[in-house]
Amino acid sequence: MTLTIAYDSGNPLKVAADALILPIRTNESGELAFSGPVADADSSLKGELQQLATEARLTGKPGSQMVVPTVGRMKARRVVLAGIGAADSIDAETLRKAYGVAAVAARNAGAKTVTAALPDGGDPAKLLDGAVQGALLSTYRFQTYFGTVKNEKPTPAIESLTFVDKRLSETDAQAAIARGTTLAGAVNLARDLTHEPGAVLSPARVADIAKELAKKSGLACEIFGPKELAKMGAEATLTVGKGSVNEPRMIHLTYKPKGAKKGIRSIGLVGKCITFDTGGYSIKPADAMLDMKGDMAGGAAVLATMTALKALGCPHEVHGVICAAENMISGEAFRPDDIIKGMNGVTMEILSTDAEGRLVLSDGLVYTSKLGVGEMIDLATLTGAKVVALGSETTALYANRDDLAGNILASAKRSGELMWRMPLTEALEGQIKSEIADLKNSGGRAGGSITAALFLQHFSEGLPWAHLDIAGANRTKTGAAYTPKGTTGVGVRTLLDYLTEGANA
Ligand code: BES
Ligand code: MN
Ligand code: ZN
Repeated sequence: MTLTIAYDSGNPLKVAADALILPIRTNESGELAFSGPVADADSSLKGELQQLATEARLTGKPGSQMVVPTVGRMKARRVVLAGIGAADSIDAETLRKAYGVAAVAARNAGAKTVTAALPDGGDPAKLLDGAVQGALLSTYRFQTYFGTVKNEKPTPAIESLTFVDKRLSETDAQAAIARGTTLAGAVNLARDLTHEPGAVLSPARVADIAKELAKKSGLACEIFGPKELAKMGAEATLTVGKGSVNEPRMIHLTYKPKGAKKGIRSIGLVGKCITFDTGGYSIKPADAMLDMKGDMAGGAAVLATMTALKALGCPHEVHGVICAAENMISGEAFRPDDIIKGMNGVTMEILSTDAEGRLVLSDGLVYTSKLGVGEMIDLATLTGAKVVALGSETTALYANRDDLAGNILASAKRSGELMWRMPLTEALEGQIKSEIADLKNSGGRAGGSITAALFLQHFSEGLPWAHLDIAGANRTKTGAAYTPKGTTGVGVRTLLDYLTEGANA
């Protein structure tokens, strides 16, 4: 059952529903502000809404919520108060949080039809877009593999969410809903793909899915198997994939905007898509191998982003390159001490078969650099060292240009994704210099996320380039306001913001 989102012009209090989401502000002293539709609801409930909220110590901060049954005294069976804080102009992130948390609260209370009011102040179309994103992202669930044994049935999904307001024309409302739905849909697609087990999602399967999605979303799609990879000299990708019966694939998706406009750029996205990472002969300990099905999250983010470009009217030409392989063990697998040659002639000594991501990315970057792109951005669950440095949630950004870094950071901020710029410390180059080849594929423990980025830089081919180390950020164990426990779809929102707004800055 998919959640249908609609807009109606009118008064939200006059519509029958299982639940009505009402945003509630706080004033400068942090007290709940009962005004607008919340005040009207309060008077329908004879002042009890305010009493209950105060007694329950609802804070009104973004992400705080309270469900109040109306027991026949209002058109809606329940009111869900959704805190939006004190700010005059509310940003998209507050909206995502508030409506994300409120939608889950409504669902968990058993609501199937939900109506919602929008806060006053700000551009109502932007508010609606953010609220739609929040609700669709927070109510995401991955239920493909539930079998017949269910001790506890999951709460049924919300069937309809209708925003009721007077400020928007039907066209503007539909455009905002479409934008929010497309964005959240792309994130949820990346989440779905990242949840799939390695046995299901092989490189070939990723390629099949990419082909299907390309057709639906107006993209050209080229797929390179072992033969084509050998022809183009993608030895690194072939080497990483050698130990698995599931052959590697490189997938190239192209989006071309309609009509050549001024200021159009060509941007390359490159995603690490290791469908399972055992570590190879430098094998991972059992605990560290868990969730290595998620080592394709960079590729998933690139694929999902590409599928949304047409619907969002991206003005730039975008190439999405997904480097898919499985890192396994067999008599044919690559070994520590092997030496391989990259597509740009740079040779690499294998110190660890577990540093496989940078190998497949080296091919992806060099391939992409030849497509005539003006800049490249790669995404990869690349290093455990990134998790040590910044924690799981925060993405590490590396870039060889300050303006590119600044624009990506701004997009991340607007998108509500945590990101922190890290340095490409030249002094650490010595750690990846090999005695018998150009580069070593591991720089050791010290500065492990930085030396991985320095390694990739050798394949940036002089182009403006940014690298996002998303290790650990592909999954959340705790969940957050609109990110349920499980896979996160990290990177998609930042990339889509960058490709539709940020790159113009
Ligand atoms: N896929 C891992 C990185 C990773 C670790 C992602 C933890 C998510 C959570 C990557 O391929 C890897 O194994 N990297 C090694 C590199 C080392 C051998 C230089 C690492 O981080 O230990
Ligand atoms: Mn690895
Ligand atoms: Zn890996």
